[in-house]
Amino acid sequence: MPVQSEFRSRISLSLWHFSQLNSYIGIRRKVTESNSFGKGVGKVAARDEIADGFELVTGAPCQASSGVAHPPGCVENMIAESTIETSAQPAARFKAMLCQPEPVLALAPMQDITDYAFLKVISGFGGADFYVTEYFRVHSASTIQRPFLRCITENPTGQPVIAQLAGRDLEAIARTARELQEYPIAGIDFNLGCPAPIVCRKRAGGALLRELELVDAILGTLREAVTIPLTVKTRVGFDGAGELDELLPVLAKHSLDMVVIHGRTVKQLYRGTADYEAIAKVVRGLPCPVIANGDIDGPQKALNVLRETSAHGLMIGRAAIRNPWLFAQTRQAMRGEPLHYPSGREVAEYLRQLYVETTPAFLGPRDQIDKFKKYLNFIGPGLPCAAEFLYEGRRMATREDLDALLAKYLNHDESLTLVAGASVEAANKSITFEKGWR
Ligand SMILES: Cc1cc2nc3c(=O)[nH]c(=O)nc-3n(C[C@H](O)[C@H](O)[C@H](O)COP(=O)(O)O)c2cc1C
Repeated sequence: MPVQSEFRSRISLSLWHFSQLNSYIGIRRKVTESNSFGKGVGKVAARDEIADGFELVTGAPCQASSGVAHPPGCVENMIAESTIETSAQPAARFKAMLCQPEPVLALAPMQDITDYAFLKVISGFGGADFYVTEYFRVHSASTIQRPFLRCITENPTGQPVIAQLAGRDLEAIARTARELQEYPIAGIDFNLGCPAPIVCRKRAGGALLRELELVDAILGTLREAVTIPLTVKTRVGFDGAGELDELLPVLAKHSLDMVVIHGRTVKQLYRGTADYEAIAKVVRGLPCPVIANGDIDGPQKALNVLRETSAHGLMIGRAAIRNPWLFAQTRQAMRGEPLHYPSGREVAEYLRQLYVETTPAFLGPRDQIDKFKKYLNFIGPGLPCAAEFLYEGRRMATREDLDALLAKYLNHDESLTLVAGASVEAANKSITFEKGWR
């Protein structure tokens, strides 16, 4: 069945289910609940939600959020089917999110990291408010890359997912955006910051910051092509933050719904530190919500960046691989609540889960462990014995080696900040919460 008509029939089915469910099930605002690890702030699973931040409150015909199979006709199954699979619902939910007074927290897109399996794991730890896919490569002959679609069609997070595009071909960009809009995405994000040579050599991603006329044309084309939110993720310039004076008017022209700004130039790659003054300039210079990104490695840093930049929210990348509790911790810090720091054992459990989900059996044992090392490289630096952990981690050859590594370094109940060199005592002392800090 063509995608569009399949979605249409799902909508009518879904609306029927929704009206049936409404007649005997109460609806209340979505609440936070314990996640599968029993601690921290959790997100309710996608199947427990039916519309903009609402959660079904069932009697007890079946167990919500348990992950167990449910008998036919069970309310849980009807809820699963009631997911409306077009972009309209997630887009509306994302738009509502951008209007809320509390800062929004997003997981940064990371090529080869933020795939379906990773989103599934991280969202179980009280994850982000919204997610962005790895970039869909767009060129004259491109088709939608199926593996990336899984984050959208089987969205494991229960939160809005935005599809990111990278390319420079106007026609192909419009075609891809229109095609993606047929899937349940919350918006289209245009990549205007990627510094990777493979992207920049094709004069896409961050390289486009040297061709603002083309950027102007691309954003105009995208704005016309889609009715859902249009966002941009960019850097403070190609060579220097002085280029913002020319970039901001171009971005301001296209009624963007949100801009994410990484406080580095393209030339810097990941060197140096993020420039929060430049991010603050972007916040002041654009009429849309601006999300700050770059080097946010802990809840105190998150509060500092929000204060320094007055950004509408934060996007966190590498530190979230190391510390999937970071989103929940940041929310706790924003509310002035005590923070949950995971114990060594909890971190080990996270790593075991990450291994199981991200290294499918078909890879074979050696490739599985080699694939897992890419995550360890991000995680190791936040651990107390970082150098030894990484040295031994990089030499693992089997799953048994991983178990031995975790037993050696993380088999304890001591709390960890997962910020390089920061003890829990010092971290707690430095958290300063002020009401109305935004
Ligand atoms: C491995 C890796 C892959 C990335 N892939 C993407 C990408 O596909 N699209 C994008 O816009 N940014 C990408 N980025 C940049 C991040 O989204 C983010 O802007 C950057 O890491 C800075 O944030 P952080 O300091 O919180 O990690 C990537 C970064 C890393 C480390």
